[in-house]
Amino acid sequence: MNPTPHDLAALEALAVEVAREAAAFIVEQRPTELEVSTKSTHTDVVTVMDSRSQELISERLRTARPQDAFFGEEDGAERGGDPSETGLTWVVDPIDGTVNYLYGLAPYAVSVAVVEGDPAVPGEWRPVAGAVVDATSGEVFHAHLGGGSRRRGVDGTETELTGSGCTDIAQALVATGFGYDSAKRGRQARALVELLPAIRDIRRGGSAALDLCHVASGQVDGYYEMGVNAWDIAAAWLVITEAGGLLTGASGRPPSPDSVVAAGPGVHADLLALVDSVIDLVREDR
Ligand code: IPD
Ligand code: CA
Repeated sequence: MNPTPHDLAALEALAVEVAREAAAFIVEQRPTELEVSTKSTHTDVVTVMDSRSQELISERLRTARPQDAFFGEEDGAERGGDPSETGLTWVVDPIDGTVNYLYGLAPYAVSVAVVEGDPAVPGEWRPVAGAVVDATSGEVFHAHLGGGSRRRGVDGTETELTGSGCTDIAQALVATGFGYDSAKRGRQARALVELLPAIRDIRRGGSAALDLCHVASGQVDGYYEMGVNAWDIAAAWLVITEAGGLLTGASGRPPSPDSVVAAGPGVHADLLALVDSVIDLVREDR
């Protein structure tokens, strides 16, 4: 991947603007009775608002950046539209934390990132700008490559993010999540049983994008999950690394649906070693 010649600050500003509009939309327009259908399993839900939020985001991005490609969760993981003429693809999660949204429970988020390379192929892409909006609080986590990482409060105040300073894995508060396939959830639970005694405690917030942003803000010390997709991590990956944190897959490989491990530099190696020691428990051939 070549260094990007694009105006990264402008791409970040667009990501923030569009993600904020979509976040306000899903909060304000949330129907009392949500129309719901299912995707991979009977617990993997998609609400009518996931689709509407993605339509809104894709329309705004296609108008502002018609030459870029678009890759959204609700396309069924298919690349939408024409190939990118700029080498850039917008990677979008229109509601991250859909189950929380369904139950009217915080938090849930909108994640909008722009990446170089092919987001469908682990190791072949990297985010260059992005924003995650915590829809219920209105906070915005945003970053562009080389530009630092910030949280914008509801009053517009920008705070520089510097990640978690934790240096002792036994004291680390670690966020994680579970998949929609019941057999896989069972395997993830068995891995958690092994990992939990080695850390302070676990948190399951329900939005991978926000879990990752909370690593950048130091509100948790680490995050791992086996089974997240490019749209869950694209914007938050940059928010973490621009805050001085680290994000990899298992064994230090690029992040992928197999595994994502993120933490501040003081505990990333130890969290990675823990994840490496349990990851075989989660893999499908077990
Ligand atoms: C899910 C959330 C959840 C994580 C799941 C994701 P969705 O995304 O990020 O925290 O544990 O793996 O699929 O379905 O709400 O967009
Ligand atoms: Ca998601």
